[in-house]
Amino acid sequence: MSYKLGEVLMFREEIAERVKAVAAEIARDADRDKPLVIVGILTGAAFFLTDLVRELPEELDVRVDFMSVASYGDSTQSSGVVRIFHDLKTNIEGKNVVVVEDIIDSGLTLSHLLTLLQGRNPASLRVCVLLNKPERRKTEVKVDYCGFTIPDKFVVGYGLDCAGMWRHLKDIKYVVEE
Ligand code: PRP
Repeated sequence: MSYKLGEVLMFREEIAERVKAVAAEIARDADRDKPLVIVGILTGAAFFLTDLVRELPEELDVRVDFMSVASYGDSTQSSGVVRIFHDLKTNIEGKNVVVVEDIIDSGLTLSHLLTLLQGRNPASLRVCVLLNKPERRKTEVKVDYCGFTIPDKFVVGYGLDCAGMWRHLKDIKYVVEE
């Protein structure tokens, strides 16, 4: 099957506006006396995370770390299997943690990850997603911060890919079958 780019779902300006608003929510909830560890799940979330953390106030003790996991191959369906390729460098015990994802779909990736990270005894563990597709959920995950709730359509750009392509787009676009 081959795909091509379709219409824009979110323009860069709308994304930037929501990123600021979500950062304001995170800052509002953050303890001032503990580090706030922002954990990005590679690869898709890296784009959102780097914009998000630069909207957080300077006075917050913000740390950034990444994990690399995979739940999808080149298909558009979750395999339900999460493989960890790269773990955190940061010890999150006693720290406030926000896990940042570009998208939550079935919820399987975040569900597995949250169980794993909770076992490391963070002071708090919250979830921030840019895009939420609730129709696709296979397991319940509490989403604390969300950029946009979107329909069950395949989208790319701003970090999201289709078989590795189109992550670099500034806008988020639909993908259509050719
Ligand atoms: C995407 C996304 C989440 C996961 C969400 O990652 O970044 O990690 O899928 O899907 P789920 O809720 O059904 O588990 P992907 O495995 O495509 O990796 P990528 O970030 O490298 O593109």
